[in-house]
Amino acid sequence: MTETSQPLLLRALAGETLARPPVWFMRQAGRSLPEYRELRSRAVDFIAFCHNPEMAAEATLQPMRRFPMDAAIVFADILLLPRALGQDVWFAAGEGPRLGPLPPVERLADEIEASTRRLSAVGETLSRVRAALEPERALIGFAGGPWTVATYMIEGRGSDRSRARAFAYREPELLDRLLDVLVDSTARYLVMQARSGAQALKLFESWAEGLAEDVFERVVIRPHRAIVEKVRAAGVDAPFIGFPRGAGALVETYAAAVPVQAVALDTQAPLALGRRLQARGMPIQGALDNLLLQAGGPGLDARVETLLAAWSGGPYIFNLGHGVTPDTPVEHIDRVVQRVVREAVSV
Ligand code: CP3
Repeated sequence: MTETSQPLLLRALAGETLARPPVWFMRQAGRSLPEYRELRSRAVDFIAFCHNPEMAAEATLQPMRRFPMDAAIVFADILLLPRALGQDVWFAAGEGPRLGPLPPVERLADEIEASTRRLSAVGETLSRVRAALEPERALIGFAGGPWTVATYMIEGRGSDRSRARAFAYREPELLDRLLDVLVDSTARYLVMQARSGAQALKLFESWAEGLAEDVFERVVIRPHRAIVEKVRAAGVDAPFIGFPRGAGALVETYAAAVPVQAVALDTQAPLALGRRLQARGMPIQGALDNLLLQAGGPGLDARVETLLAAWSGGPYIFNLGHGVTPDTPVEHIDRVVQRVVREAVSV
């Protein structure tokens, strides 16, 4: 494939400034789409859905048929990994994820190799999607950041993460061992995803907020660096997108310290921060407010223009600051994506 026939997403991740940014949305597959809700109603439960390659591939491709997205993200969930390591995980209707008691870390460590095999359905989904997707549209694989996954494993559910943060101080050695298990299993999982067709890899560190600088270094920066290094040591060169959501001022520390190829910015990221990262050669992704996408109207149109004007002059991937909400009208998604792909931006 020549340089210019490469998917736009991969060109942006390689640091190119393009005539228009590639675009995709976090949670572009999901409950905002009626066809997703129909498909989902046929699955026993959400976990079974994710482990069914035929259904998961279909969910991945649904937004690709409806919108001119430049990339698909494999339909899966960050909590499939703790389940593959032997902790109970289930999704209670309307309540979000629930996890059983944290198994002893030595038991989890014994399951690292087996965990990748137990996630082979995700590899099968990726191969199916890659075979069905046009070559100019890229396929993204992902995993949760070790800290975010650990917070669910420790707390048993989504929460304000205060128990996990207290755990980081009270049980530092235990937390470090848990993070080591997650680093190792996540790196293997991502290598498997790349070998199955994922062309870029994203680390969702969704709960990076509220961490003191030294804790951030210990539970986010160090584990992310270790994952990228392990994946590279396995001979995989797919670019990484790091997403330390909520990291605030520490995003720049993250970008300087972790060998990712791009940083995904959340809703609060200042435009100037994005430009500083680009000026240092770091491609950025983000950061439209998912609630503004849901609300729509002139405010949405104006913000899209602002983001394009601020960031299209450097390597940029148009996206949200967090996932599409279930209540987002499909027309709002379509309007924004059509705007981004329509034309080169005049700045
Ligand atoms: O972005 C995509 O389109 C790819 C698929 C994807 C899902 N989850 C599908 C999903 C990705 C990348 C995730 C990541 C994920 N999962 C994160 C990190 C990103 C973020 O949103 O902060 C987190 C924290 C989770 C854990 C999780 N899974 C939560 C909090 C929930 C919501 C529970 C609920 O009922 O709303 C899920 C479930 C989930 N994961 C759904 C989807 C489409 C909805 C479940 C359903 O359809 O029944």
